Amino acid sequence: YSTATPYTTLPSVLLLGPPGAGKTTLTTLFERGPQQSSSSSSPVAKTHTSQVPSSVELSVNSDDPSTSYKTNLDDEGATAKKFLLVDTPGHPKLRAQSIAHLTSAEPTIKSSLVSDGGAKSKIKAVVFMVDAAALADGDALPSTAEYLYDILLRLQKRFHSRNGSRAPASMPVLVAANKLDLFTALPAALVKSNLEAELGRIRVARSKGLLDSGVGQDELAANEEGDWLGGDGSEKFSFAQMMEFDVDIDVIGGSVIGDGPGAEKWWKWIGERV
Ligand code: GTP
Ligand code: MG
Repeated sequence: YSTATPYTTLPSVLLLGPPGAGKTTLTTLFERGPQQSSSSSSPVAKTHTSQVPSSVELSVNSDDPSTSYKTNLDDEGATAKKFLLVDTPGHPKLRAQSIAHLTSAEPTIKSSLVSDGGAKSKIKAVVFMVDAAALADGDALPSTAEYLYDILLRLQKRFHSRNGSRAPASMPVLVAANKLDLFTALPAALVKSNLEAELGRIRVARSKGLLDSGVGQDELAANEEGDWLGGDGSEKFSFAQMMEFDVDIDVIGGSVIGDGPGAEKWWKWIGERV
């Protein structure tokens, strides 16, 4: 008598972020994980601008998420926990599709998007990757923050969209400050504070936009809960304010290629949440 393992759709981690941040490069690095520990340290494949989402199936050591992505879990006899990493295109015209999944109380992504069939994969975490070198010269900050604002606002609305008294599961968000191998890159702490400052500017600008557009006070009040990111009335926006909506944000620096801090900390973060 044998008990067949029932088929269950793997959970997924949604990888978002502006174009050129390094999402596809990271996906390739993790996908090739165990293979690259063997002598030839060939660099990760050249990528090109993504136009459609794609996913790879990855495994973490379920007993010890800090096990390197380079470790072959079979060889180690470790228990593997599988999940899907969903790489999305960063182009502004293709973003809406990527973040549309985040509004519902229990965010899922159609696995037809990531595999066959119509089953739905539960989104366990969001990784928002940024180019910390591009953020250093300031030009990339507004567009990067706009994208993050839209994501966080969706997650906040998700909190309000819950049915009955049951609170939605918390959604962990990792801001992965990439390209720290470049000496021009901003350290993670500055990526965090610059993004927080810019998100604060955006929420003020958007609320003024509503006022300027002649929206009545009643509508504003009704809107308040929906469109203002983070805690009410506080002058400065901080990621910590998102905890109120069960959105738990960490900012961790790393690098996918080059001589930098590497990607292990991100891998561990993901492994602890799938
Ligand atoms: P879209 O598909 O357009 O959304 O971009 P993407 O986020 O998938 O970026 P992609 O992975 O294609 O990487 C863009 C460029 O950044 C490539 O030339 C990568 O080689 C480079 N890159 C990625 N990670 C790093 C890194 O850690 N350090 C450095 N120096 N370059 C990196
Ligand atoms: Mg890509």
